[in-house]
Amino acid sequence: MHIDPLEKKWIQISLGMVSLFMGIIMIDALFHGVNAPSNVETIDSRKIHLSEEFAEENLGVQVAENGDITVRMVAGRYAFFPKHITLPAETRVTFRWVSMDVLHGVHMPMTNMSTMIVPGYVSQIESSFPRPGEYPMLCNEYCGLGHDHMWSKALVIEKEEWQATRAKQAAVLNTTATADEESNNE
Ligand code: CUA
Repeated sequence: MHIDPLEKKWIQISLGMVSLFMGIIMIDALFHGVNAPSNVETIDSRKIHLSEEFAEENLGVQVAENGDITVRMVAGRYAFFPKHITLPAETRVTFRWVSMDVLHGVHMPMTNMSTMIVPGYVSQIESSFPRPGEYPMLCNEYCGLGHDHMWSKALVIEKEEWQATRAKQAAVLNTTATADEESNNE
């Protein structure tokens, strides 16, 4: 079979490009944690506020007894709730996102935190922030007239500072609880 040398050259170039792109995808997936969200978990969008997990008081940053950090966020026209969260740097964080109305997306620039938020499904992404700073959460799926203004903020602070703040908050909660108890006993 005769293949024209020029044709051969282009076959090689296109195969080279395909290998390059495959390589980039593999490096991103294996070393940078950039993956398509794959946990197919459903939720009734109309009853999010009634669900145990995404009820208002459970939104935001939660720390499990074993120290795992989970952030639960609700996307709705036109914000991500809660509007502000504070996270520790250099720590693995699991984000769980749901939409209360239409299709949204969320993207935190310079991180792997980027996913579609499809109504009816929970999108879960694991991420960590190497550097403290202010990270915007931006909607990247057109969702209506306010789409351009749909964003919230995550403040990432040093791990130690974050732990100290949590401990202080817990202490304040404890004293208020005890004070309440004492006033009840009087
Ligand atoms: Cu939400 Cu665009």
